[in-house]
Amino acid sequence: MIAIYTDEEVSLIRASARLVAKTLDFLEPHILPGVSTLFLDKLAEEFIRSNQAIPAFLGYGGPRNPYPATLCVSVNDEVVHGIPGGRYLRDGDIVGIDCGTILDGFYGDHAKTYLVGHCDDKAKKLVEVTQKSLEIGISKAIEGNRVNDIGSSVQSYIESFGYSVVRDLVGHGVGKKLHEDPPVPNYGKAGTGAVLKAGMVLAIEPMINEGTWRVKVQRDGWTIVTADKKLSAHFEHTVLVGKEKPEILSQT
Ligand code: MF3
Ligand code: CO
Repeated sequence: MIAIYTDEEVSLIRASARLVAKTLDFLEPHILPGVSTLFLDKLAEEFIRSNQAIPAFLGYGGPRNPYPATLCVSVNDEVVHGIPGGRYLRDGDIVGIDCGTILDGFYGDHAKTYLVGHCDDKAKKLVEVTQKSLEIGISKAIEGNRVNDIGSSVQSYIESFGYSVVRDLVGHGVGKKLHEDPPVPNYGKAGTGAVLKAGMVLAIEPMINEGTWRVKVQRDGWTIVTADKKLSAHFEHTVLVGKEKPEILSQT
């Protein structure tokens, strides 16, 4: 079942998602060559807690292999769910930073891919096109459209550059929980899937690979990497479906 949130609930989701956007803005000046991914994680956790919120990813997934950090920090061929640690960012890396918060019981979820120092044109292009594909997907989040109108528009844009769309991971509804119905693939056939209604809240999150769409899970059980070790980029917004236009909730 896909939740339709009331205006009051949407206000709470907006506040949480806005805090995630503020957290990424706070981190941005620290995303530099020589900085460890764990340092970024600690900065984010402190910022979120000082704003009366809780990191949403910390402990996610249950007792067997709980996600151990506030951020997912995914470098170069890491697609998503990279675990912060002793890795130091290097000049020319691209780094996806994904963050979620729980504020007053409601979730926000938002990610961006950043250029570290001086990146080559190949990396810059992938990041730019992935960001644009998210904007295109978001533009379909309007009442009366179907859920796969989003992924179809992302996929056709991405494939026109020769890039590929990750299949194994998808976006999702978000609000009272981090992952709610419906799944929101970044690929598919326009005109199919659930009908969108105003008040639905979707985390739209294209994961785009330079080469093959195939991915593997690393031995930590979390980190997703490209099968061919080529680059991957990820952008995500928490988006309110509207009657006439979508509203990006994860912005300041
Ligand atoms: N934005 C990601 C997602 O929706 C982040 C989840 S990390 C996890 O899946 F640890 F919480 F799984
Ligand atoms: Co998400």
